[in-house]
Amino acid sequence: MDRVIHGTDMIDVRVTQIVNGDAVQQLDRMPDSSVQLCVTSPPYNIGKSYEKSTNQTLEQYSQWMRSILTKISRKLKSGGSICLQVGNYVKDGIIVPLDYIFYPILMDLGLSLRNRIIWRYNFGLHAKHRLSGRYEVILWVTKGLEYKFNLDPIRIPQLYPGKRHAARKVGKAGMPSGNPMGKNPSDYWEFSAEKAFFGEPVWDIPNVKSKHPEKTEHPCQFPNELVERCVLAFTDKGDLVLDPFAGTGTSVICADIHGRVGVGIELLKDYADNARSRLQLSQKGELALRPSGIEPRLPKETERVATVPTEWLRKQAV
Ligand SMILES: C[S@@+](CC[C@H](N)C(=O)[O-])C[C@H]1O[C@@H](n2cnc3c(N)ncnc32)[C@H](O)[C@@H]1O
Repeated sequence: MDRVIHGTDMIDVRVTQIVNGDAVQQLDRMPDSSVQLCVTSPPYNIGKSYEKSTNQTLEQYSQWMRSILTKISRKLKSGGSICLQVGNYVKDGIIVPLDYIFYPILMDLGLSLRNRIIWRYNFGLHAKHRLSGRYEVILWVTKGLEYKFNLDPIRIPQLYPGKRHAARKVGKAGMPSGNPMGKNPSDYWEFSAEKAFFGEPVWDIPNVKSKHPEKTEHPCQFPNELVERCVLAFTDKGDLVLDPFAGTGTSVICADIHGRVGVGIELLKDYADNARSRLQLSQKGELALRPSGIEPRLPKETERVATVPTEWLRKQAV
């Protein structure tokens, strides 16, 4: 049975904070239907330093995650979202994609899958007996049929903003066919630095490895940009963002930067302390963060479709 905690023992979800403790118990200290977005990456049960003590079978791990996802779903507002970022469970060289394990659990909870986002990155271990893994997945699920989705804050520059509707398009012939604010970033989040150099207008969100300005001692840190896209798209200012596996506190810090309330839960005291220090640095404007997004591509003179329509420039000038 869940532990029920009343009164002052509840977490004040109006205040951005990192709570040191086990998500299983700490989630009970949050009010039901309070969270607009839960963005998180759970342990993958692959023997990382922070999961050495658990050593669970895949079945035990799946049951454990089911109990946590059940609690998260209870804390979620109607119209709220979960962004569950996962990779592979690996044993004896055999991989199990964790989104396969979590999808049926999320469906049993009555949540609706909106996107299965592929997050591709450029760095990582080089496998010897299979192809090197270079992507992970974010399952974006919502509670209820109506849900919050703000596309405009996460639009990215078009490759060809100068494209126009064909002459046969009644009422729109010759007008710019794109959106002056940019295009939908799609469900494929690209991490290829080379592509950025070749000038494709994709977000380049490298994972947080040795030379990344956000790197800490934590082995599996979210890049700020990845969380930022979720926070901007699935919440408004003042909403509550939860990360029950907070690690370095990236989700909480990002929520705070964007005027949301962030609550993170982290089991290990050292990580929780470090996340709190990072939050304080961020609140003083002193935390190193990689700037989000890349510059729009500069078109060559010969590329008419790559130039920004004059109609849009006129609108922006008004
Ligand atoms: C994959 S990492 C998350 C990293 C995080 N996304 C970041 O940006 O730093 C998982 C984190 O969950 C923590 N953790 C493991 N079991 C936990 C539990 N039962 N309750 C809360 N946190 C836990 C680990 O210590 C680890 O820091």
